[in-house]
Amino acid sequence: MGRGTTEHNRERKTPVSELAKLARAMVAPGKGILAADESTPTIKKRFDSIQADSTAENRLSYREMLFTTAGAEEFISGVILFDETIRQKTSSGVSVPDLLTSKGILPGIKVDKGAKDLPLASGEKVTEGLDGLRDRIAEYRQLGARFAKWRAVITIGDSIPSSGCIHANAHALARYAALCVEGDLVPIVEPEVLMDGSHTIERCNEVTELALAAVFAELREQRVPLDEIILKPNMVLSGSTCPTQASVREVAEATLACFRKTVPDEIPGIVFLSGGQSDELATAHLNEMNQLGGVPWELSFSYGRALQAAPLKVWAGNTANIPAAQQAYLHRARCNGAARSGSYTEAMESTA
Ligand code: 13P
Repeated sequence: MGRGTTEHNRERKTPVSELAKLARAMVAPGKGILAADESTPTIKKRFDSIQADSTAENRLSYREMLFTTAGAEEFISGVILFDETIRQKTSSGVSVPDLLTSKGILPGIKVDKGAKDLPLASGEKVTEGLDGLRDRIAEYRQLGARFAKWRAVITIGDSIPSSGCIHANAHALARYAALCVEGDLVPIVEPEVLMDGSHTIERCNEVTELALAAVFAELREQRVPLDEIILKPNMVLSGSTCPTQASVREVAEATLACFRKTVPDEIPGIVFLSGGQSDELATAHLNEMNQLGGVPWELSFSYGRALQAAPLKVWAGNTANIPAAQQAYLHRARCNGAARSGSYTEAMESTA
């Protein structure tokens, strides 16, 4: 037994850090994350679609309706909040993070300041929000947040994305992730390749591969411990207006093949965004990937629209609809919870 073996054993006994434990809890079996961190302009768009006024009070009632849904904690490990929401108190007088914590749900916070036009790069975006981020993270930690989210947006189009756009966004994601780890929050690292456009699934695969390779190169450069972060990527999909749409099986296979090439084994979990897919397709794709399996990471969800579209419509801004809207939310949470183990079936939809 040489020195190498002793060192190897010592390495294996290294205790898992608290942040790495938290990251694992975020992707606990059967559970995923609710993204409820819509910025004020985005939630206004959602409320406009149901003719509800987007006031601070209405935004709180709607989100409180989701957060107090009995039984959701069986399928939801964490909720991503917006700055306004993490500071709000619910109707029972407790703060939103305290309410979530009391249900065993981890409170998270969106810390980026949105995707802005990348200068001298028509049609491309770069996410802002690094200035002052160390202090904002400290405040959010104080307010009860345990994890954070930063979303980068990559658009596919004629001769875009450029390498400049991919690298600017990857660099910002890594700087953000390093600040989170330093400030005791698990960073959700979200490089989103948009599904908008007529591109093929092959083109989405190519761009997703480039984006993920750049993100992991930058994360390493910034010394971010990979077992303390969660990756939130897009699935590899046909563009939303591509005339030939890949099947559920093709999407699952292409997505897993892309990640096998680019995502290091140390990442505890991958939580997908829904990105504009229908509720049922987002669930079916995740389910298929978990059926295929054979990957070292938990494959989970961090859906915004695919968890909220149904309850938002049922709620329609009316208090009387709260119990039915909560059932609609619980149903989607349960279906996605089943997709975590590949046990979702279409029949679950008709027994709702
Ligand atoms: P969607 O699931 O609606 O894409 O939202 C997830 C999210 O948090 C995007 O940043």
